[in-house]
Amino acid sequence: MDKFVIYGGKPLSGRIAISGAKNASLALMPATLLAQGVFHLHNTPNLRDVWTLSRMLGEMGVHCELNGQDLFMDTSTLTSFEAPYEHVKKMRASFHVLGPLVARYGQAKVSLPGGCAWGPRPVDLHLKGLEKLGAEITLEAGYVVAKAPSNNGNGARLRGAKVHFDISSVGATENIMSAAALAKGTTLITNAALEPEVTAQARMLVKMGAKIEGIGTSTLEIEGVDELKAVTEETIPDRIEAGTFLIAAAMTRGKITLEKTNPYHLSAVIAKLEEAGCEIDVTGEEITIAMNDAPKPVDMTTAVYPGFPTDLQAQWMAFMLCANGTSKITDTIYTDRFKHVPELLRLGADVEMLDNTAIINGGKQLSGATVMSTDLRASASLILAALVAEDRSEILRVYHLDRGYEAIEKRLQALGANIRRERTAEF
Ligand code: UD1
Repeated sequence: MDKFVIYGGKPLSGRIAISGAKNASLALMPATLLAQGVFHLHNTPNLRDVWTLSRMLGEMGVHCELNGQDLFMDTSTLTSFEAPYEHVKKMRASFHVLGPLVARYGQAKVSLPGGCAWGPRPVDLHLKGLEKLGAEITLEAGYVVAKAPSNNGNGARLRGAKVHFDISSVGATENIMSAAALAKGTTLITNAALEPEVTAQARMLVKMGAKIEGIGTSTLEIEGVDELKAVTEETIPDRIEAGTFLIAAAMTRGKITLEKTNPYHLSAVIAKLEEAGCEIDVTGEEITIAMNDAPKPVDMTTAVYPGFPTDLQAQWMAFMLCANGTSKITDTIYTDRFKHVPELLRLGADVEMLDNTAIINGGKQLSGATVMSTDLRASASLILAALVAEDRSEILRVYHLDRGYEAIEKRLQALGANIRRERTAEF
């Protein structure tokens, strides 16, 4: 198992290009199951979650090949409609194959994902939505078994329906929108998630021949078609990776430029960074950030897009540890997502929890320690804190980071950070 060794105190400087968005890839890849042929997904991030999904799809008979940032997927060889527990437990987004499989092949058997590191993450909205589209759903030994209704003797096919989500859900919107693309008739999704990754999936579906109105809004109208075709698509930039690097630069009082971003997707984050005193310049696809002083304490509440993303909550907490004063962070999306707090305390942070609100008493010099990654974004906050901590820190179990950040240590090294990866016998 790998660990990172970090010596804090170096301001970041330089330029880096942002990778394709992990969560967009995890939306585009399952949607390829809706058509037969060879897909080419440019700008795919070369990271563990993509490999996990490629491996699972590979076992289902889909030929996946990742050359650098180019992912080729041949779906014409699919032989199995089952997503086994061993893959879904590693990565919940594997559950996103459910909608496309039942829409295209009339059947699917997909493991329930179970909980995750920071608490329960239900899939009820996915299941209710598919039932609305006529799927017959049963739960068998930890698996969701879904079957499309028979279509007047013409095989099995989902049918269009009105689907309202009580909660705005990225994954449920993606699962139901993709299933509806091949359903018979029209589907109206209300309170659809607005996240850029949902829009990215919708755009690819349209390229494939789907008829979708209202893309980028909370009401999606999808007129099902009989067939979709394989396409070439470019993956959007990763707004969470970009946000993490912006916060890293601000915390270390450095100056960096991010290339290949979509600044519009980061509006809420940029606004908060400016409130904290960062100087930000946006030019086309580039964002330059400079910070000379300690940040001002800035309260933050996570919200669905276009609000501040929950996936940057832990990193924002690390940032606020550097502020001279007290700030509050509330997570409204995942109220238990605070596994990073006890680890940050080991680095000398002063954070108190009150339900889903963290009170951060910033301004205390952090000191190096050995800490443990618990989940992807929590781990990112530990790296950020270690970059400003005195002396040496070790971050154990960095496989969590490898799920969502491509070679983060190399990219931070390129910006001047003192970080290296080492093998460890720790389990
Ligand atoms: C996606 C992202 C994840 C991000 C999250 C919120 C991917 C692969 N992952 O996760 O990085 O943190 O959006 O922006 O894109 N909910 C239900 N029932 C459901 C589904 C969701 O109650 O059936 C709740 C969740 O518990 C949560 C909220 O809805 O409180 C939003 O979750 P959702 O948008 O579905 O997150 P994911 O799609 O799993």
